[in-house]
Amino acid sequence: MESSLVLLLALAMAPFQLGSGQSLHVDPPDPVVAVAKDTSLRLNCSLPCDEGVAQVQWRGLDTHLGNVQNLPGSSILSIHGLLTDAGTRLCVGSCGGRSFQYSVQIVVYAFPDQLVVSWSGQDQEVSCTAHNIWPPDPDILSFTLLLGDQRLEGAQVLESEQEEETQEAEGTPLLRATQRWMLPALETPAPPALYCQVTMQLPNLVLTHKRGLPASGITLWVGSLVLGLLALAFLAYRLWKRCAPRVPPDSSSCTLL
Ligand SMILES: *[C@@H]1O[C@H](CO)[C@@H](O)[C@H](O)[C@H]1NC(C)=O
Repeated sequence: MESSLVLLLALAMAPFQLGSGQSLHVDPPDPVVAVAKDTSLRLNCSLPCDEGVAQVQWRGLDTHLGNVQNLPGSSILSIHGLLTDAGTRLCVGSCGGRSFQYSVQIVVYAFPDQLVVSWSGQDQEVSCTAHNIWPPDPDILSFTLLLGDQRLEGAQVLESEQEEETQEAEGTPLLRATQRWMLPALETPAPPALYCQVTMQLPNLVLTHKRGLPASGITLWVGSLVLGLLALAFLAYRLWKRCAPRVPPDSSSCTLL
């Protein structure tokens, strides 16, 4: 009973054992390969063969033949970082009547350093947007508020959203992702060392960008104060110019404009 089970197992394993010592080599060898949008990558699939020359070929539903170069014993797939390059590609090879296959999942990503951080002092709200990102998977992107190089404790996470980027150029449906927080009560109105950090986590690849909070909140406030003072000085000057030459107290005709 037990020995027949072992035999069955051995039979089940047989096809795999036949191929041992001989299998497809793919370079780069990862089952999931991340490619930056608009960058090129070559995937070299080869099969060493003791019995003649192996037949090797890349396949895939939308693999253009123009991007595949078949050589004796190997096949090169060229990827150009188009959004349509994403998906599964299959390398199929045969050697001496035995067949092998290897599948690679291609992920095309976009994550430029295009963060926009805004801050509203009134309601202590911070908003951080990452522009022109891809792919549309909310789980690969994470937002963190940093105070200096530490995670800011006590910030209340408000809503997050992903929406299509409004673009003039057609055909590239990139996204923007936004995260909002409510700041905890802070000692200073806009701590200068507050950053939004966005991390994109791809297979075998982690990318981050960081952007400081604009000091514009304070600048605007100071700026309007200065402008207000200037305007006041100007008005006072005009008033003085109109009224000063009239020596007697004729101030009833002294108007602003
Ligand atoms: C593809 O890989 C094979 C086996 O490693 C190698 O002999 C061949 O030169 C490679 N081809 C290219 C174009 O890199």
